Amino acid sequence: MSHTVVKTKPIEGQKPGTSGLRKRTAVFMGPHFLENYVQAIFDGTGGVAGKTLVVGGDGRYFNDRAIEVILRMAAAGGAAKCIVGQGGILSTPAASHLIRKRGADGGLILSASHNPGGPDADFGLKYNGGNGGPASETVTAEIFARTLDIEEYHIVGAQDIDLGTIGTSELAGMTVEIVDPVADYAALMEELFDFDKIAALFAGGFTMRFDAMHAVTGPYATEILEGRLGAAKGTVMNGVPSPDFGGGHPDPNPIWAKELMDVMYGADAPDFGAASDGDGDRNMIVGKGAYVTPSDSLALLASKAHLAPGYKAGLAGVARSMPTSGAVDRVAKAKGIGCYETPTGWKFFGTLLDAGKVTLCGEESAGTGSDHVREKDGLWAVLLWLNILAETGQSVSELMSDLWGEYGRCFYSRHDYEDVESEKAHGMFGDLRDSLAGLAGTKAGEMTVEWADEFAYDDPVDGSHAAAQGLRIGFEGGGRAVFRLSGTGTVGATIRMYIEQLELDASRFELPAEEVLKPIIEAALELSDLKAKTGRDAPNVIT
Ligand code: G1P
Ligand code: ZN
Repeated sequence: MSHTVVKTKPIEGQKPGTSGLRKRTAVFMGPHFLENYVQAIFDGTGGVAGKTLVVGGDGRYFNDRAIEVILRMAAAGGAAKCIVGQGGILSTPAASHLIRKRGADGGLILSASHNPGGPDADFGLKYNGGNGGPASETVTAEIFARTLDIEEYHIVGAQDIDLGTIGTSELAGMTVEIVDPVADYAALMEELFDFDKIAALFAGGFTMRFDAMHAVTGPYATEILEGRLGAAKGTVMNGVPSPDFGGGHPDPNPIWAKELMDVMYGADAPDFGAASDGDGDRNMIVGKGAYVTPSDSLALLASKAHLAPGYKAGLAGVARSMPTSGAVDRVAKAKGIGCYETPTGWKFFGTLLDAGKVTLCGEESAGTGSDHVREKDGLWAVLLWLNILAETGQSVSELMSDLWGEYGRCFYSRHDYEDVESEKAHGMFGDLRDSLAGLAGTKAGEMTVEWADEFAYDDPVDGSHAAAQGLRIGFEGGGRAVFRLSGTGTVGATIRMYIEQLELDASRFELPAEEVLKPIIEAALELSDLKAKTGRDAPNVIT
């Protein structure tokens, strides 16, 4: 087989963001783009000679073609073995588990998460290390550095590998093992959760809908919920993955998972509803007419995780990303366990999980997970909820009312201004940053600023420093607004504004969140002058 050295030169725009590199699919398919980036990953991680890699993705358009290229390049680099999900499919958490279980040196995950897929939509590629988690800032910096001085890449000429057939074959001296993408993951879930108890819940008439959003969790959810736990056929909706996710936006929030929301807020709503995203790491939880915010879900799981067998010893500690609400902090305090506030992005939880400092972690962006893998895990969160529902016999709304009764309710919302002109977004952001030092004491509408700062993080395990992780404004009365620029977008800039207010007065728990948060939203808009500076009247997405 021919081993070709292709002369190339750096291509602009290959800087990995919050979770790997995301671009328009057409960009990834452009001349040398994918090959350059794959070579940069290989070189930036010390080469692949003799290594074992896990390779798989969420099945979006170009997934299979990209995997063929990666396999040919890994063979050219002298890799010993690539373990690939059948059909090129691996959910992000299943890939993380496979890396850990097989002791692989790392993995390449092909996904743009919840972004739409297709020739005119988005594609992405991410490198995970031997612990199964997203590459650290140091590693992504190495990869980026290689994209800037790349001169050649290596690839073997070969026929396509048949990704559809389970088994082992050889590609230019490298072993390719095609595995069932679901089996190992489902076995892990059986270890963590009381499947008999959950099966008994379903057998007793408990009903559920799981929206796979035409994405990767379809086969996982069908096997686990309908297959192993005996939930009624049809529990899983949109369960067949398609390269363009049925033309939809596989992001599990009340806007994009509207079909499920309509079911859960309609007549004859089932007892429990959940959804997951493109690559299976995010989750949305909704009870009968009761949407649970991701921040509240994290707090509830932290308070009750010990009811599931995998967590019966209790939690070592918890971690949340900075913009996530403080609800989980209150649970951690009551339990007397550690609580860490990290920058946005799952990679920041890795050191804490590896060091055994935390068991559970989560983000406001619908990510929840634990030390069972090194990624957030959508279906895992759903199963932990089911285990808790089975053990307590309570409904989702009863569980939430009890949680608020005990700790207070953190009202929370996120406003996204997507595809803002990059210059305007950065301008607004820069001006706000410059004004932070003088903000304390400033009045804006009904609110008075108590403190303001730019979040930075010192990793308590490896001492690494992450600067510029979001602008925070604290108001008298405990409310908070946070501004961040997204690191996962593919066009223009996205400004995220996160708003939070803790409420201890139980008579106000049932108020609409918009009403409680209105004064903070208005103050945050006034202080940032967002509308005038970006020319945008309203957010595109409110979650
Ligand atoms: C977004 C979320 C963040 C999450 C990331 C990957 O990143 O906000 O919590 O870790 O996607 O799923 P952002 O676009 O805000 O940088
Ligand atoms: Zn995702």
